[in-house]
Amino acid sequence: MAAGRGAGPRLLVRVLGAAAGGGFPQWNDGSPASRRARAGDPAALPASQASIALSTDGESWVLVNASPDLRQQIEANPPLQPRLPGRSSPIRAVLLTNGDVDAVAGLLSLREGTAFDLLAHPRVLRTLDANPIFEVLSRALVRRLPLAVDEPNEITRPLVVVPFAVPGKLPLYLEDGRSEDLDTGALDGDALGLEIQCSGARLVYLANCAALPSWLVERIAGADLLFMDGTLWRDNELIAQGLGRKTGRRMGHISMSGPEGAVARLAETAIGRRVFIHINNSNPALLADSPERRELAASGWEVAQDGMEIRL
Ligand code: MLT
Ligand code: MN
Repeated sequence: MAAGRGAGPRLLVRVLGAAAGGGFPQWNDGSPASRRARAGDPAALPASQASIALSTDGESWVLVNASPDLRQQIEANPPLQPRLPGRSSPIRAVLLTNGDVDAVAGLLSLREGTAFDLLAHPRVLRTLDANPIFEVLSRALVRRLPLAVDEPNEITRPLVVVPFAVPGKLPLYLEDGRSEDLDTGALDGDALGLEIQCSGARLVYLANCAALPSWLVERIAGADLLFMDGTLWRDNELIAQGLGRKTGRRMGHISMSGPEGAVARLAETAIGRRVFIHINNSNPALLADSPERRELAASGWEVAQDGMEIRL
């Protein structure tokens, strides 16, 4: 069973963005789904690129990833907006789960001289250090701090984060001509899962995850809330739709469906609420009236939406 919360402040979770890289609709996508989103179809709600915000008091916030849509996400979520005259922000820290464009590009929108802490795996910090454009974040104000893997990191009392390496891969822009069968089982910290603990409640954030081996299923078991990589419905979806040449697994993403997919792999696992996030615009489960969405609901899964709020 899920551990459930004990005494103490509750964890507040806001979904800032539910979509995978590119968002929904994506700028260069003219598919029927994207056209429905552009036409204002209520079953095809637009979604910005994946990120969540966490708070224990509703006053100060920690972001998980800084999506390219961060500026609009702040404007869409009043708790993230300044409450004082002049320059300030309730955003105290940004945690990065990986170095992909859709996880880091929003950092560039956080320039202009307000302090916060930036926490990431040393591999991701090295990537940022190697890219001078990120120096727009003044190091005097924005501390770059390594996340300790497999250890409790106290971000803001009483919020504790235990990051752990998951099957995944390095960012696309670092692949550097490496072979098509690039190993996505590597556990060197290019993709981190986060276990977030607050007053006895446990949230697991796994938005970039290539597979669910047994040890990882066990790691998730008992979570009060799981945000799971929902990039694709099917592993060959991009190929079948003529959108790309890579399988989901090659991109570092498990699929929702299929015998090795997230729904099947977690079917017997005790989880309070299970929510897919980082959903690609090619995934039919994005559409509220699709058979795939009905199948998810019948299996106990929710699909994240921008603005969704959950209190643990
Ligand atoms: C991914 O989730 O695989 C990446 O966001 C892809 C990309 O960087 O375009
Ligand atoms: Mn992504």
